[in-house]
Amino acid sequence: MSLNHPSVAIVGATGAVGTELIACLEQRDFPLRSLRLYASQRSAGRSLMFRGDGLPVEVLTEDGLAGADIALFSAGSATARGFAPAAVGHGAVVVDNSSAFRMDAGVPLVVPEVNEGAIASHRGIIANPNCVAIIAAVALWPLHRAVGISRVIAATYQAASGAGAAAMAELRNATGAYLAGRAFAPTVLRHPYAFNLFSHDTAVDRDTGANGEETKVVQELRKIMQAPNLPIGITCIRVPVLRAHSIALTVELARPIPPAAAREILAAAPGIRIVDDAEGNHYPMPNEASGQGDVLVGRIRRDGSDPSGRSLALFVAGDQLLKGAALNAVQIAERLIM
Ligand code: A2P
Repeated sequence: MSLNHPSVAIVGATGAVGTELIACLEQRDFPLRSLRLYASQRSAGRSLMFRGDGLPVEVLTEDGLAGADIALFSAGSATARGFAPAAVGHGAVVVDNSSAFRMDAGVPLVVPEVNEGAIASHRGIIANPNCVAIIAAVALWPLHRAVGISRVIAATYQAASGAGAAAMAELRNATGAYLAGRAFAPTVLRHPYAFNLFSHDTAVDRDTGANGEETKVVQELRKIMQAPNLPIGITCIRVPVLRAHSIALTVELARPIPPAAAREILAAAPGIRIVDDAEGNHYPMPNEASGQGDVLVGRIRRDGSDPSGRSLALFVAGDQLLKGAALNAVQIAERLIM
């Protein structure tokens, strides 16, 4: 294996995250020797542009992955389970964007700004975390490292992109139909999406009342931050935004610190841009987070409901397709070749 100038494969290249993986490799001048693109039978015959050339989209086979040094998977859990072990068997390191391996004890779950050291422990598969977990971890980690976080309460405002390219198309089509006064029957998500919001589309556990997304975020944040007992309460909501997730975070700290001190800690942390302009009422917004690698953080203030004074509230927004998925995966791949 040559991790110096690796041959790279993207599995799920035609998807919402896959197309951003191609763009990230190009924009970040990733020093690859060759790039091969894979998707399902549905995409046979398509080609996608990379560095000025049209690359064919190949139908995924185990043999096709035999030559890859690094395989970036973003094709869902079933495809990851079906093909990632074979890719590893052929000598590739897999960075997988699905939830298939994230909670496996032997699989590092990595946000480079938080736990890049975990990459070295991989045994062939490295998991890219859930998009909300990544964006929240970038904002929470600097406070946890500097002061210690003893409790987190989160409410999310999640974009269509988290449910894939088809959900983004559904948001566009549903909005067009709504504005034209036409009836529109959703086929990708269960509820009307135009000018509406709804509880995250993953199944609800009847015992806990948590949906699948909420459970993933709690478990993954604890694993990434190496805080297995961190109390986290979260409500995940899908909103009619195309590609950036926002999160309202309330954090109880080990000791009180002024909001200005928290702002300084966050401003000095990698991967964060402070947007916290009270005069202009200008705070993190998904339209400004879209297309950006940084997580936007603002509205940093004391949470008045905590009489101990130890709790702060903040609002963050991050591009689900970039830092929440493709960019984080490429940042992991960059560390593999260092
Ligand atoms: P395709 O476009 O051929 O269906 P998204 O998350 O935006 O829905 O994208 C999912 C990606 O995963 C797409 O590139 C899709 O390819 C790919 N994919 C889905 N199922 C498979 C499969 N069985 N084998 C290979 N690629 C798959």
